[in-house]
Amino acid sequence: MRILVTGGNGFIGYNFILMALYNEYEVVSVDNLSVSSYKNDNELIDTSDSYKFYEKDIRDDDLKTFIGDHKFNAIINFAAQTHVDKSIYSDAEFISSNIIGVHNMIASVKDLLDKRSLPDNFKFIQISTDEVYGSLSSNEDAFSEKSVIKPTNPYSASKASADLLCMSYYKTHSFPVVVTRCSNNYGPYQYPEKLIPLAIQKIQNSNRIPIYGDGRQIRDWIHVEDHCRGILRVLESGHYGEIYNFGGYSEIENINCIKKIINQISPGEDYNNYIEYVKDRPGHDTRYAINANKSFEELSWKPKYNFDEGIIQTVNWYKSNQEWLSNHCNSDTYLKWVEKNY
Ligand code: TYD
Repeated sequence: MRILVTGGNGFIGYNFILMALYNEYEVVSVDNLSVSSYKNDNELIDTSDSYKFYEKDIRDDDLKTFIGDHKFNAIINFAAQTHVDKSIYSDAEFISSNIIGVHNMIASVKDLLDKRSLPDNFKFIQISTDEVYGSLSSNEDAFSEKSVIKPTNPYSASKASADLLCMSYYKTHSFPVVVTRCSNNYGPYQYPEKLIPLAIQKIQNSNRIPIYGDGRQIRDWIHVEDHCRGILRVLESGHYGEIYNFGGYSEIENINCIKKIINQISPGEDYNNYIEYVKDRPGHDTRYAINANKSFEELSWKPKYNFDEGIIQTVNWYKSNQEWLSNHCNSDTYLKWVEKNY
């Protein structure tokens, strides 16, 4: 089965590629390399005949020809601008990539399907986020697939728009799409714009971790491998026109998450030496939590990692991959971002 992974150089996309190759899929990956000029796939180019990478943007005019030529059985769209903080400073790229890019892909695929130029049982999987549901207070039930869409920042609004566009194609054109929504991911290959790798990098360099506001916001962390296994289940048996939630069942306040990481890297040290409270993020969502019952029941999916195990594995991965981390941290894109945000 030949699949196209878009955003294959990104954190979740790359983890998914590793899992898909292990499961004997033939993978073509595209990425515009906008998030990091560092390319993740050197080991794959050398070792796998079932893998190919093309530098390409999901907004490219020739995308339809590219998809038609490869006769993909499925497309999994990970390509997106994903960083909330960046969307607060500058949102045009989010609207363009996350909405116009998705439209370019589904309109191209629809045209190819109309001409019978793609294999039967073709599937388009749109990778989305729990952030489309907005924010929860401490006593509200976790988000289910039936929760109202109420995004609160330009990033989540762009993802919600793409979800709605995909679902409208399903209703109007019987477009073979499935949407997945996931809670905060962590694990290997995540770039240090995000809280967990940022914290690891700061502690390793004896710097302070910037904690937005009072640090009491809650995130429901899912290990990226658990998320990717869920996507594989969707690829194998997810139904067209359905939405599936994936969550880690690991809700934790940011400050407690940070304390666990400090404790693992520098056990016994006073955590106050490693943190710095900074101005809160505008419109900061208080709490995310996912109800994934539908995925348990319909996809026989369940997360394998609890947060304590997952964070140990993740910190150990970063300790063994210092070069990967420093390559990204020394890139112009990253240095400019740090200067602007903090
Ligand atoms: P992040 O990893 O950016 O994911 P998201 O915004 O999608 O949830 O942030 C996770 C949480 O950590 C979020 O509540 C914001 C907070 N945070 C900080 O306190 N300091 C930071 O420097 C960053 C990047 C995030």
